[in-house]
Amino acid sequence: MLIKTRNDGFIHPLASEISARSHYLGRRALLRNAAAGAAGWAIAPWASGQAMAQAPRPGKLAALASARSAVAGASTMEKLSDYKDASSYNNFYEFGTDKSDPARNAHSLKTSPWTVEVEGLVKKPAKYALEDLLKLSAQEERIYRLRCVEGWSMVIPWVGYSLAELVRKVEPLSGAKFVEFVTLADPKTMPFVGSRVLDWPYVEGLRMDEAMHPLTLLSFGMYGEVLPNQSGAPVRLVVPWKYGFKSGKSLVKIRFTDKQPVTAWNQAAPSEYGFYSNVNPEVDHPRWSQASERRIGEDGLLAKKRKTLLFNGYEAQVGQMYAGMDLKKFF
Ligand code: MTE
Repeated sequence: MLIKTRNDGFIHPLASEISARSHYLGRRALLRNAAAGAAGWAIAPWASGQAMAQAPRPGKLAALASARSAVAGASTMEKLSDYKDASSYNNFYEFGTDKSDPARNAHSLKTSPWTVEVEGLVKKPAKYALEDLLKLSAQEERIYRLRCVEGWSMVIPWVGYSLAELVRKVEPLSGAKFVEFVTLADPKTMPFVGSRVLDWPYVEGLRMDEAMHPLTLLSFGMYGEVLPNQSGAPVRLVVPWKYGFKSGKSLVKIRFTDKQPVTAWNQAAPSEYGFYSNVNPEVDHPRWSQASERRIGEDGLLAKKRKTLLFNGYEAQVGQMYAGMDLKKFF
C-alpha cells in the first residue's frame, strides 16, 4: 500500500458519538431471538429505523437475510468497530488513495445490474446475476477481525456465506489449483482507475483449499445492511486470516486456474506483498514491523498497542493448511 507517514487526517469519534453500535447490538439480539424462535434462518427486518440512523446508508435488500454463523471461529466477541469507521476509513484505490476518498467518491459506482462470471477450470461455468448469487445459499453473520497490512485493524460484522458454497455449485475440475478474483475496473464510474498506482483491474487470488475454507466469506452486507459502495458493493470477499488486501471488493469475475494468479499488489511490489499474505507478527513488512496494530476507533493507551496475532487469531481454524510451509519464505 502507499503508506504515508503523515497523520492520516482521520478524526476518531468520541465514545459519546458512537450510537450506531448500540442500535446495531439491539438489532442483533432481535435477530438471535428470531432465529431461536423459528426453525432455520431468521429473515431480518432490514429497514430498522434505528439501524439506519447514519444516513446515507444503503439499507435493505429483500434477498439479504442473516442469522449467526455456526462455522467455527466465525464470530469474535471483541467490541465491534463503529459503522462510521468501517464505512469512512477505507482502502478502495479505484476511488482514491486517501482513507476518506472511497466514502466521498464511491457514490458513482453502479451496483445494479451486476453479474459475476465464474469461469476457467470448472464443469459448470456460469454468469450469476447478483439476485441469483444472493439466493445461492443462506446468508450468515460473521464477526471478523480485519487486519490491514498497513498496521491498522477493525472488527466488522459481515453478512454473506462461505465462498465454498459457490465453488461447489460450479464443480471445479481436478486441475483447478487456484482461484483468481477479478474486481470491477470501470474508468467511467471509478475515477482512479487509470491512475498508475496499480495495474487495473485489482486482482487477487487464493489457493484452492483457502478458497474452500469455511471462513472465506463471499459478503454482500455488513452491520445487517447492504454493503455501502466504499466497502465493496455489491459483493466482495473477506478472508479474515490474511491481510485485508487479499479481500477484493466489487467482484466481477471468479476464475479457476492451474497456476498461481498474478495479483495486483504482488505484481506492484513483490518483495512487500506476497501471494499468501497471511497475517504474521513475525514477518515484518520491509518498511515496518507487523508485530502490533492500531485498532481504529481506539484512542489513547490502547492505540498501536495491540499485539498482532498469527493468522490474525484464526490459527486454530486455518493453521493446518500451512503445515510444513516456511511462512517467512511464502509470506
Ligand atoms: N479491493 C479493491 N477492488 N480495491 C482496493 O483498493 N483494497 C484492499 C481490500 N480490497 C482494495 C480492495 C485493502 S488494502 C484493504 S485493507 C481492504 O480492501 C479494506 O477493506 P475496507 O475498506 O472494507 O476496510
